[in-house]
Amino acid sequence: MSCRVAKTKPAADGGSGNAPRIGENTEDMIIIQNIGQLAMPRARLAEDGGQSPPYGVDVLHNAWLRIEGERIESFGNGDGPAKPPGDEVIDAGGKCVLPGLIDCHTHTVFAGSREDEFVKRIEGKSYAQIAEEGGGIKTTVRAVREASEDDLVALALPRLERMLAGGVTTVEIKSGYGLSIDDELKMLRTVKKLNPMQPIELVGTFLGAHTVPAEYADRRGAYIDLVCSDEMMGRVAREGLAEFCDVFTERTAFTVDESRRILLRAKEYGLTPKLHADQITQIGASRLAAEVGAISADHLEAIDDGAIAAMKEAGVIAVLLPGCSWFLGVEQAPARKIIDSGLPVALATDYNPGSSMVESLALVMSIACTQMRMTPAECLAGVTATAAAALNRADRIGTIARGMQADLVILDVENYDQLPYNAGRNCVRRVIKKGRVLPVHPKP
Ligand code: NIG
Ligand code: FE
Repeated sequence: MSCRVAKTKPAADGGSGNAPRIGENTEDMIIIQNIGQLAMPRARLAEDGGQSPPYGVDVLHNAWLRIEGERIESFGNGDGPAKPPGDEVIDAGGKCVLPGLIDCHTHTVFAGSREDEFVKRIEGKSYAQIAEEGGGIKTTVRAVREASEDDLVALALPRLERMLAGGVTTVEIKSGYGLSIDDELKMLRTVKKLNPMQPIELVGTFLGAHTVPAEYADRRGAYIDLVCSDEMMGRVAREGLAEFCDVFTERTAFTVDESRRILLRAKEYGLTPKLHADQITQIGASRLAAEVGAISADHLEAIDDGAIAAMKEAGVIAVLLPGCSWFLGVEQAPARKIIDSGLPVALATDYNPGSSMVESLALVMSIACTQMRMTPAECLAGVTATAAAALNRADRIGTIARGMQADLVILDVENYDQLPYNAGRNCVRRVIKKGRVLPVHPKP
């Protein structure tokens, strides 16, 4: 495969001012030729009442695709249009091309490390026991509170660079390790600052209700008041730091009633609800997701039939996190049952230092195939089209169609089945973000 690397436009001031974003591209034309398989994922979403065919991937063999500026201009079979003057030509070498991957649930901004808990779990302690003994999320909260915004930026940048090298072009990042006004704002401002510094589009989610911090242990109501306050949630919304509000609804975190109050307040501030639901125990979290009209309910390892039906009725997307269960060594969510019921399913890494030290979305696909019996097509739709819907971006990213944003990945394998099949290997040859061909990345 030969391909010329387009000139990037690095932000001259390091990304903090009005300099152009890395990856910004307004006029260039690019044609990708000799595509062995053009993979076009589609989601089965609630709006059409489940009438569309089961989600999966349509393919074109021996294809071409033309990019104009930041968008997909046209594509088809064969050699494609004669090269217009000025078009940059990329030879895909007969390999597979697919939309940029979307990681729709992560905790990528964090400080510190929790390998001691990893070892404790190998020795027999559970994730919940470690949390009840004062470890878990609270350990990362201590580390994040000690870190400056610049420290958090410096820690997150190489993580994002590795994710990009793995073909990921959009990442959602949650707060939730600050748990005070200043520290929650610090985390979300970190996300905002990181956005123009590197090519991945970052989406902020406010997770002030991740756990009750130690200093509020005897006054949990006061902490919930704080999360719902104008000083915390209101500032997050006003400063445009988050689009979503998430709550960890679980026996060790927040009850259904507490979560309801937080999510209804979030809606008043214009934040869209999401939940960490049914991860360890079934306390009604995914039913609450349906009740409040959440865009997604994430985890779902302990979901039951009634909750699946409620989510389907309300059009809530199921975000499954198989890397987390794999990392914790616990049972996976019942993916087949959820898919076969007709719910749209997205997949994400849940990348975080406690329950899922897993950065690779491709590895998550491999785990979903081997441990949850999801097909590679279902997995690919889950990390593209359906993940885009879980981030309210289905009109712009996650599929290959005329006018969609040109976020694309060229693999070094012939078809998308080979992506999860090559478990743990990075099969990404080239990443294109908003129509800009990015420099070759160091392979992880
Ligand atoms: O999605 N479950 C809650 N939150 C994260 C874990 C965070 C942590 O352990 O640091 C999760 O698994
Ligand atoms: Fe999570």
